[in-house]
Amino acid sequence: MTDFLDINTTPPEALRSIIDNALAMKSARKGQPKGTPDAEQPLANHMVALIFEKPSTRTRVSFDVGVRQLGGQTLVLSGADMQLGHGETIADTARVLSRYVDLIMIRTFEEQTLVEMAEHATVPVINGLTNRSHPCQIMADIMTFEEHSGPIKGRKVVWSGDGNNVFNSFAHAAGQFGFDLTFTGPPTLDPEPGSLDEARSRGVNVTIERDPAKAVEGADLVVTDTWVSMHDPASARERRHNQLRAYQVNEALMARAKPDALFMHCLPAHRDDEVTSAVMDGPNSVIFDEAENRLHAQKAIMRWCLGV
Ligand code: CP
Repeated sequence: MTDFLDINTTPPEALRSIIDNALAMKSARKGQPKGTPDAEQPLANHMVALIFEKPSTRTRVSFDVGVRQLGGQTLVLSGADMQLGHGETIADTARVLSRYVDLIMIRTFEEQTLVEMAEHATVPVINGLTNRSHPCQIMADIMTFEEHSGPIKGRKVVWSGDGNNVFNSFAHAAGQFGFDLTFTGPPTLDPEPGSLDEARSRGVNVTIERDPAKAVEGADLVVTDTWVSMHDPASARERRHNQLRAYQVNEALMARAKPDALFMHCLPAHRDDEVTSAVMDGPNSVIFDEAENRLHAQKAIMRWCLGV
């Protein structure tokens, strides 16, 4: 039994087996109603806790549906409604939950909450997003890229906008899957240097290019995300919009990438802020495949964590 806390701390061969298993499970249930149980039921008799200290649509629904398709049961818990939100320690919460459930997925604010939960739980813990990373999302993104465009190894991925937690997981993935990564955004919103250095130490090209038009040249994939993340103060909205406006992904920017470059966004998107509707709904966009693949990738992650 193993935790899935981050892409950079999961062995590359495990990451590859998760992607391959996700693709196989997706293919096996093609065309079936969403509630159809999978032919294999590896989570039968398993109870999974899904804890949310932040809002969620995709993570909540895809984990819940995924557990059910694999034959398990879920408890969806809001941090505010638990004693965790009223002074009980993370360590005690982890020990107690481990007596009731077989697997814990948590979406939280601070990385330290996730780390403490994993340290004290006696069942596997999955990172459903922290202020620092979003590994389940990027596993779905790698799966989506490879479905459409073949192996991601050696390809060029460009991130335009805020160097946030989702970007961080892309940097982790660059080192593990072997793709080149370019960040384009204002210096005030640069990603944390540690993730970039770690990816570079694994032999991939990771660059920062302030000019978005130059950055996307030769890109196989262009990615952006909301300009104000869930952990950013609402008061930062106007300042961030002013800083990031030049990094909007629009048709003119996409035209500078390879003609068959994909566009991705983890969603929710703010249409016509970080990306125009023309790009979101255009021929290069795979945003809804990305959203669907959260389901398949996370099913594979849960199976890997439990060894089932
Ligand atoms: N992309 C993503 O994690 O979506 P939710 O916030 O809706 O879960």
